[in-house]
Amino acid sequence: MVLKIQQWKWQRKPGTGEWWKHGGGGNTWHGFTYDAEMDALYIGTGNGSPWNAAIRSPDGGDNLFLSSVVALDPDDGEYIWHYQTTPGDTWDYTSTMDIVLADLEINGSTIKALMHAPKNGFFYVINRENGELISAENYVETTWASHIDMSTGRPVEIEGARYNNSSAKIMPGPLGAHSWHPMSYNEETGLVYIPTIRWGVEYDDQAYARDFAAGEFEANFAVDWSGDLDVEISGSLQAWDPVSQEQRWEVDYPHMYNAGTLTTAGNLVFQGTADGHLVAYNASSGDMLWDIDLGLGISAPPITYKIGNKQYLSVLVGWGGAGAAGFDRDGITLGWAYGVHDRRLVTFTLGGELELPSQPPPHFPAPLVDTGFTLDGDLAEAGSTLYLEGFCAFCHGANAVAAGMAPDLRASQIPLDQQTFASVVRDGAFISRAMPAHPELTDQELEAIRHYIRQQAISAER
Ligand code: HEC
Repeated sequence: MVLKIQQWKWQRKPGTGEWWKHGGGGNTWHGFTYDAEMDALYIGTGNGSPWNAAIRSPDGGDNLFLSSVVALDPDDGEYIWHYQTTPGDTWDYTSTMDIVLADLEINGSTIKALMHAPKNGFFYVINRENGELISAENYVETTWASHIDMSTGRPVEIEGARYNNSSAKIMPGPLGAHSWHPMSYNEETGLVYIPTIRWGVEYDDQAYARDFAAGEFEANFAVDWSGDLDVEISGSLQAWDPVSQEQRWEVDYPHMYNAGTLTTAGNLVFQGTADGHLVAYNASSGDMLWDIDLGLGISAPPITYKIGNKQYLSVLVGWGGAGAAGFDRDGITLGWAYGVHDRRLVTFTLGGELELPSQPPPHFPAPLVDTGFTLDGDLAEAGSTLYLEGFCAFCHGANAVAAGMAPDLRASQIPLDQQTFASVVRDGAFISRAMPAHPELTDQELEAIRHYIRQQAISAER
């Protein structure tokens, strides 16, 4: 599916600068929604790349069709309509999040509605016959925009939120107020059940040159977002009324990255949590009805199905996604260390009698400290940047503190030996186990990364 090139004439403000040289962005990495009634395909598009709009498009512009819902004719890809949730995105406000269709009774008429709760913290109800915005309200605290102006359909940005040669503390953060974990809609209750994230960061682009150029296959957002806000990180399950655009009930969670929801005609909502519980709630009231500890963080939504006369509920139990990558200070507190817990598919039915084999408790690998390794501070300093740019951080965690996607390198023997380290990191000795080879790294760079890892291990104990 290709957005046809002539569609660019639809743009009022296409975006300025040579954004295509930097990447552009707009990946459509979530599921598409097909609408049989309208014979339309709805695609949620991704954020801008690099994130920093001032570098991507120095003279402004909306950057269509980033962070948008785009309706296309599924037969030929012809454009039907679009609605952009974050014009000129500069906060990684992906709009790929799942798109839910329903008929809603609003002010006495039936609206063919499209519902969407992207990362930017607003819940949108759009008329899918023509792409017109019906309503939009924030479902979490949003410090980048005060509200959506219903006459223009555009967010009213808060001054300074668009950090430009400065910094700004923003909620929600780049993992969103709602990420890839799907929400669900229940026709009986009329409510949408949203896995909500409460988290923010400080974006700071003062160190980035305006003549930015990202290296080939290099992680470079053109903004530093490692500054954590002094707020309590948490998550919640929200029951949201899309007609009145207000919350009906909410269950708070101590961790931010909880799984997608399933709601049933039996007035239930099921959700897995970051701390490994599968929970059932009364869909109308939010009262907890059932809770089972499955021993490992859950990222996937449960499904329910019938075989013969028996109803089953299945869930994949496994910790993954950005929560396991260690981008935030929450994922590393859970103890879902790499390789310790079994990933499994667990199925329930009424009257089921099997006992679930237990999982090991949460585990936090201890950094190796007294190893006789002689640390070179300058090398470690250089290694810190390489660790990030070489993507190590994306699997082994920020600051070399892992959250489960890959081993915690502070606790590994391998960085203690130069040659073994090179064989794993450069030559790909563990490539069949998903540790990529990095043939581009020089001896000096490898040494720098090795010293950085050892420095993080030693300083962890202090
Ligand atoms: C795509 C994810 C990914 C990236 C990127 C990545 N790793 Fe890994 N790494 C892994 C996984 C998964 C393993 C565990 C493989 C296994 O099961 O043995 C691993 C294992 C390792 C080990 C061995 C640890 C041990 O004790 O067995 C080292 C050392 C290592 N990685 C270093 C690095 C460095 C340095 C970088 C960056 C240059 C890097 N990795 C980038 C996923 C990744």
